[in-house]
Amino acid sequence: RMSPFYSCWGTGLLLLLLLAITVRESWQAEEKTCDLVGEKGRESERELAVLKRMTPLFNKSFESTVGQGQDTYMYRFRVCREAGNHSSGAGLVQINKSNGKETVVGRINETHIFNGSNWIMLIYKGGDEYDNHCGKEQRRAVVMISCNRHTLADNFIPVSEERGKVQDCFYLFEMESSLACSPEVSHLSVGSILLVTFASLVAVYIIGGFLYQRLVVGAKGMEQFPHLAFWQDVGNLVADGCDFVCRSKPRNVPATYRGVGDDQLGEDSEERDDHLLPM
Ligand SMILES: *[C@@H]1O[C@H](CO)[C@@H](O)[C@H](O)[C@H]1NC(C)=O
Ligand SMILES: *[C@@H]1O[C@H](CO)[C@@H](O)[C@H](O)[C@H]1NC(C)=O
Ligand SMILES: *[C@@H]1O[C@H](CO)[C@@H](O)[C@H](O)[C@H]1NC(C)=O
Ligand SMILES: *[C@@H]1O[C@H](CO)[C@@H](O)[C@H](O)[C@H]1NC(C)=O
Ligand SMILES: *[C@@H]1O[C@H](CO)[C@@H](O)[C@H](O)[C@H]1NC(C)=O
Repeated sequence: RMSPFYSCWGTGLLLLLLLAITVRESWQAEEKTCDLVGEKGRESERELAVLKRMTPLFNKSFESTVGQGQDTYMYRFRVCREAGNHSSGAGLVQINKSNGKETVVGRINETHIFNGSNWIMLIYKGGDEYDNHCGKEQRRAVVMISCNRHTLADNFIPVSEERGKVQDCFYLFEMESSLACSPEVSHLSVGSILLVTFASLVAVYIIGGFLYQRLVVGAKGMEQFPHLAFWQDVGNLVADGCDFVCRSKPRNVPATYRGVGDDQLGEDSEERDDHLLPM
């Protein structure tokens, strides 16, 4: 048997372990993410809402290569996570395929985001400075995410680079995502809710009855089905009703030859035929 001393020790160790896990998790939660304009607690509620909607994309990475020969560039884009290998805080980078040079187009610590009815616009500012163009300002990435209900996120494509302006230049990208779609109106009408409820009740009835018959009554085989005799009667009634309503031609046996007790339920036709034979 364990002495009280050792069990106390064990509990202490367990608590320590839990503490370590908690600390580790909160540490992980400190991962770099999108930083909106304004300090914590003073950010735009609307921007925060759209950003929250984007969380399923946080662990994804999107790449697209454009150009040819010396001018082949790969763009890597991530939502609120670091996209760069060498550059800190980059959300969208351009990699020159000929020399492997990485240029930050936008950083996640300068994120702007807003949405319309079927699109979301994500902007990363604070990229590397232009050498000559655009008044040597910092680069900026503009990602237009449009609604596509068939994919969580796909078709990341660089569209154009605007650097002919004296300032406010930008790199423009497109992407498709179901997250940009306006929430679909619930298809569950009152009727379907009733239907689902009814189906659930039936399931509960069958499973509950089954268990009762099996465990309490000790039934086997078909007998486990709750109220078997009753439902068999119902089934036969329904079959007869259907037969009466749906059958266009008369039955094999013309009605005139039928016995008196013919409309009794639960008798099958072979038995009936046997009765008829001597007639
Ligand atoms: C991303 O996160 C989702 C859940 O949030 C998970 O199901 C999926 O496996 C993750 N993907 C990767 C590549 O980590
Ligand atoms: C990023 O760095 C990792 C190792 O640090 C390397 O394996 C990977 O190829 C790099 N990716 C690019 C696109 O340079
Ligand atoms: C990409 O690298 C090639 C080869 O070094 C160079 O000629 C070209 O100017 C570079 N492009 C940019 C935008 O730096
Ligand atoms: C964003 O991060 C970069 C590099 O880490 C830094 O130079 C810049 O000042 C930061 N911007 C803001 C608004 O904090
Ligand atoms: C933007 O998204 C929010 C939900 O995040 C939604 O309530 C709002 O209607 C959307 N804006 C427009 C113009 O559809």
